Amino acid sequence: MPAAATALDLKEEILALKKARNAVILVHNYQSGDIQDLGDYVGDSLGLAYHAKSTDADVIAFCGVHFMAETAKIVNPSKIVVLPDADAGCSLEQSCPAPQLEAYLKEHADKNYYVIAYINCSAGVKALCDVICTSGNAVKIVNKAPADRPILFVPDANLGAWVMEQTGRKMDLWQGSCYVHVEFTRDSINRIKAEYPDALVVAHPECTQAVRLLADEVCSTEKMITFCKNAPVKDIIVVTESGMLHRLRKECPDKNLIPGPTDRCACADCRYMKMNTLQKLRDCLANLEPRVEMEESVRIRAEAPLLRMLEQSK
Ligand code: 13P
Ligand code: SF4
Repeated sequence: MPAAATALDLKEEILALKKARNAVILVHNYQSGDIQDLGDYVGDSLGLAYHAKSTDADVIAFCGVHFMAETAKIVNPSKIVVLPDADAGCSLEQSCPAPQLEAYLKEHADKNYYVIAYINCSAGVKALCDVICTSGNAVKIVNKAPADRPILFVPDANLGAWVMEQTGRKMDLWQGSCYVHVEFTRDSINRIKAEYPDALVVAHPECTQAVRLLADEVCSTEKMITFCKNAPVKDIIVVTESGMLHRLRKECPDKNLIPGPTDRCACADCRYMKMNTLQKLRDCLANLEPRVEMEESVRIRAEAPLLRMLEQSK
């Protein structure tokens, strides 16, 4: 039996395959540290969407979850887009199936909703929307929505509620949530705050309001980097998925970055994000599978609200 490949062998193989395929490796901030270290770009959903659109590589190896790789294909359809594990889903995406949203919009056609979808949704849902947003630009996008139309915000009710607080704009909210971020509770965050009384708290807007109220800053994963770099204190409690800590520790070496705990664990992992591994990244570059594909009619309808977002968030 051949000896198992070491992490070093795998990294070398991945870099060689990347060159041979003329591929770019795009990585979300929640991926494991070994994958982040191989990324040509590591960032949040917004930065990843811009990079996916502008790359001139032939292949995009997308290390994140399925909707992120799908977004890359929507905005750059001539490229081959692969992701290490095709089953890397997202609980927010699952909470809003396209047929259910379509039926809801038909039933409430009299409302003439302006539909804003958080990017954590399928291509089928994007195809039903007017504009997309990410946690990094949601406030800006909602502020640019037509004043004379009611807004339906899908699928994250927590992000939607936070955006309403920030903008003062009333919206009807789809009742989806991120199974990872709702695990943080007022008690779990208060407990860690008591351990680090001088710490600042930064939280993702997918957290519940009870947790957001305990935070000094609520922002996207990318903005967390800037917040932590500029924070005038050493201790910072980071209330989001655990992968974020890898990049933060690299970029803010002078800070003591403390993962926000849940009631059950010392930190929170997204099981979907963690399905990707170095082996699977090597395999997807070697085999150019699994690929992200979709019907061209859906892609075209999903592209329009994504391009509107990229334009409006400049
Ligand atoms: P960001 O766009 O802030 O990185 O968030 C993506 C995500 O899936 C959060 O759970
Ligand atoms: Fe989806 Fe939550 Fe995982 Fe982000 S952390 S990919 S929102 S399940």
